[in-house]
Amino acid sequence: MEFTIAVDGPAAAGKGTISRALAAHFGFAHLDTGLLYRAVGAKGGDPVAAAETLSEEDLARDDLRTLAAGEAASQVATIPAVRRALVAFQRDFARRSGGAVLDGRDIGTVICPEAEVKIFVTAAPEVRARRRWLEAGGDSASEPFEVVLEQVRARDARDIGRADAPLRPAEDAEELDTSDLTVDAAVARAVALVAARLEADNRAVDGRRV
Ligand code: DC
Repeated sequence: MEFTIAVDGPAAAGKGTISRALAAHFGFAHLDTGLLYRAVGAKGGDPVAAAETLSEEDLARDDLRTLAAGEAASQVATIPAVRRALVAFQRDFARRSGGAVLDGRDIGTVICPEAEVKIFVTAAPEVRARRRWLEAGGDSASEPFEVVLEQVRARDARDIGRADAPLRPAEDAEELDTSDLTVDAAVARAVALVAARLEADNRAVDGRRV
């Protein structure tokens, strides 16, 4: 069966954690689309050529999760030809048989406007910056909290303000604000949203695909 879950939202809102948990719960495949832009940014040279020739090897680099790689990704992601070059791969992944979860910025609005479930995950900038800062080591992190908060705000501004496929919720997306939720509670809400849609489509019993 084809069933697409689109999970969008700003950096460090919890998209990745929620998407991985959804994929594991329902037995779907998962694509972190931010990794595509990170790999393009990390490859260097002409970003359009990098996007057009992106390989498995590029996606397997171990330096794609750094703050610097996120920054580079956010910059190449403003180039329409880069975005265009990555569309087909994402759409093919979304419609693979067996179900798919894609997380990013424009999945519900541009890549998969027909997705069966769209979730827009948010959290206050201070909460997201604190998560990033703690991940990087807290008091022993190389950047003070205020600097990480500034980076989060700058990235939001670029992702929201770009002309092509800006970050915004699809009209029919369910908003999930994780500011005051534990990971388990946020995942439980997302699972409930998907289970409700599967059940409405008569495709599942007890929240599991049949
Ligand atoms: O989710 P992330 O932090 O790995 O994403 C890195 C950058 O890539 C993000 O700041 C904007 C860009 N991106 C995008 O424009 N569209 C997507 N679907 C995913 C990421």
